[in-house]
Amino acid sequence: MDAELLRQYLEFYRDLGIKTLYRQSGTDAFVCQPAPDAPGSHPSREREGAISAKSLTPEVREVLPDMAPAGDTLIAIQNDIGDCTRCRLHEGRNKIVFGVGSERAPLVFVGEGPGADEDAQGIPFVGRAGQLLTQMIEGTAKKEGIALTRADVYICNVVKCRPPGNRTPEPDEMETCGQFLCRQLIAIRPKAICALGGTAARAVTGHKEGVTKLRGKWFQWRDIPVMVTYHPSYLLRPYNQDAKREAWEDLKKVLHFVYD
Ligand code: URA
Repeated sequence: MDAELLRQYLEFYRDLGIKTLYRQSGTDAFVCQPAPDAPGSHPSREREGAISAKSLTPEVREVLPDMAPAGDTLIAIQNDIGDCTRCRLHEGRNKIVFGVGSERAPLVFVGEGPGADEDAQGIPFVGRAGQLLTQMIEGTAKKEGIALTRADVYICNVVKCRPPGNRTPEPDEMETCGQFLCRQLIAIRPKAICALGGTAARAVTGHKEGVTKLRGKWFQWRDIPVMVTYHPSYLLRPYNQDAKREAWEDLKKVLHFVYD
């Protein structure tokens, strides 16, 4: 692990008001480390860029307390984010896009990072891709006889500030902001998570393959089942109509799992 990453963790604990690091022997002290995949769900592969303690040395990992304070809430997490300047993404952002939906939502959608519309409004998935996501959630639910609107789920991103020119977030940006995604997921404790696109899939499952390989399969984040599907912006491209059908299939699986 490099010194920069350790510095970020220490800064994170300081933000939480933790002044002393103590040894927790015999426990997996780092709560953001993804659990192994569900048996038979997917072969184990090398994890990279995950919300995990992968790059920590065993010695450091042992002294790290939980990343989430007991009784954590979305409001507390948002307060801790504050007017964040922890990574370079703050330089070009207008609004931090924390997340939207109910703290008790049984289903959480995780995207990559805010685009221009989200950055302007401070709400995730409100641009063209967001409108498609809303249509997909509500349209699929209706077709499947499930009473569900966008307001019933929780929607957030791996990074909370818009990457310049909508570029993919860098690993260090995902690592820095990933602590907050981790806390959001722990605070909500949904029945399932749906990772939208390759970046979210990588962050939540730790698997580095492309989304076409991962989609439609169940993974796990800690003990929470994770379905990977395409990012709605990918589906907006006219030549990706087959992917649209596949995304609908993936969504059907998640909705039935969560709401049946
Ligand atoms: N794309 C994302 O990944 N997230 C958003 O909030 C909007 C577009």
